[in-house]
Amino acid sequence: MTRIPTGIPGFDELIEGGFDENSTNIIVGSAGTGKTIFALNFLYNGITKYKENGIYISLEEKKERVYVHTERFGWNLEDLEKKNKFVFVHYPAQQIEKFIEDAPYLKDLIKEHKIKRVVIDSATSLMLLQKDAYARRQIFLKLMSIISGWGCTVLLTSEGTQKGDRLVPKFNIEYLVDGVVAVHTVRKGDVKDKALEIVKMRGTKHSHRLVPMKIVKEGIAVYPTQGVFNK
Ligand SMILES: Nc1ncnc2c1ncn2[C@@H]1O[C@H](COP(=O)(O)OP(=O)(O)OP(=O)(O)O)[C@@H](O)[C@H]1O
Ligand SMILES: [Mg+2]
Repeated sequence: MTRIPTGIPGFDELIEGGFDENSTNIIVGSAGTGKTIFALNFLYNGITKYKENGIYISLEEKKERVYVHTERFGWNLEDLEKKNKFVFVHYPAQQIEKFIEDAPYLKDLIKEHKIKRVVIDSATSLMLLQKDAYARRQIFLKLMSIISGWGCTVLLTSEGTQKGDRLVPKFNIEYLVDGVVAVHTVRKGDVKDKALEIVKMRGTKHSHRLVPMKIVKEGIAVYPTQGVFNK
């Protein structure tokens, strides 16, 4: 089994060194938990540390805004784009269906740029506009079938819903992917901290601990040996 490291400090050791090559994974969390930053960190490290080119398919934020926000972490995505190592594609809400129609074009783009890592942000946006649960499932299955022809390691972002003490991706898509990583918000008095958990990772002896996650000046950092509730 080949592992695809995220290069995010503290994270890969939770999952035996990285995502399974060519697997499809979800990072789930409520609004503002750092899903987009995590996903871009996976792509940025892929290019700068592991020589794996990446594509970010945005179904939400515009390129200019993403570039401005990530500059703060010292990531020059514009420069990586100029060097053909990074591709940013944006489908705003009113063009979501075009993303699916564009599958052959995206496949060519991936081949041409020798892309190995894909992020789709977010799966929720793709499904949200569908008229009912059946249509949502159909479009997600269609997405999975498109992705399987790309030969890439994929990270999708998703909004979550709480099921008891479990945070799971909206629309029950956790069963259809290989891995799920959840980012929880944990309240400590007046402060809210983030805690990360591996919900599932097929073929992997993964951690079952809730571990602290922070947004630091270089991007995401995870603290696998620290407790979340005791400091
Ligand atoms: N430079 C920074 N340093 C520390 N924290 C930051 C920085 N930039 C953003 N954040 C935090 O990260 C959050 C945004 O992260 P991100 O966009 O990755 O979240 P998200 O989970 O994708 O949110 P959404 O569900 O809205 O898409 C901000 O709300 C803020 O709390
Ligand atoms: Mg986001």
